[in-house]
Amino acid sequence: MNPKITPASIRAMKGRGEKIAALTAYDFPMARLLDQVGVPFILVGDSLGMVVLGFPDTTHVTMADMEHHVRAVARAKPHSLVVADMPFRSYETVPTAVENAKRLITAGAEAVKAEGGREIIEQVRAITAAGIPFCGHLGMLPQHVIEEGGYHVKGKKGTEHQSLLADADALVAAGAFAIVLELVTPPVAKEISKRIPIPTIGIGAGPDCDGQILVTPDLLGMLPWFSLKHVKPKLNAAEQMRAVIQEWKKSV
Ligand code: KIV
Repeated sequence: MNPKITPASIRAMKGRGEKIAALTAYDFPMARLLDQVGVPFILVGDSLGMVVLGFPDTTHVTMADMEHHVRAVARAKPHSLVVADMPFRSYETVPTAVENAKRLITAGAEAVKAEGGREIIEQVRAITAAGIPFCGHLGMLPQHVIEEGGYHVKGKKGTEHQSLLADADALVAAGAFAIVLELVTPPVAKEISKRIPIPTIGIGAGPDCDGQILVTPDLLGMLPWFSLKHVKPKLNAAEQMRAVIQEWKKSV
């Protein structure tokens, strides 16, 4: 039987040079499938706002939404590590960050993830001091999409490059066990991955991160109305489902 994956196991994978495959799940059946395949890191991402709830971006997702979906994923009792996103505005202050991280753990998450570096470092320190494993998220921060006016690649400018290095160092010092790098230029993602002792998990950040993460419905082609540069669907699930439903409808 597969052993239970912990934040320490994820860190140890970097030590062994073993790549970390991470995917999102928002419900029981997907969590069960990912577990059966042996995906070590399941993220209950706030991407659920777009891919499950139909919002235009992740800023509409609430703590109640996250708790609901974390509970569904946790019911699959996966061997995989279950990491939950802290939604927009749920970690603005140190006390709210700790309280909301505890709520996600109570719902069944085994670690939490939040977006940002030095600007949230007091919150990260308080979360790890409370004994809650923390995964960082640097680069393009989807919860800032409105103020940034879109999803832009980070690390092209010298100032962004230096800032990403400083943020990664700060997250390591604050006790993070891994860092997601989203839309970071591949050379900068490679530099960060070499520089820090904890795993980097890339999305649209090139091949040299310690692991890769995708939004599962993007991988499976379930959302043909979104087209993304960093992922080519490996299945056309939406088309296949439409065809089966059409055939069944005709048979009625
Ligand atoms: O919400 C999410 O699914 C994420 C991934 C894009 C890393 O944060």
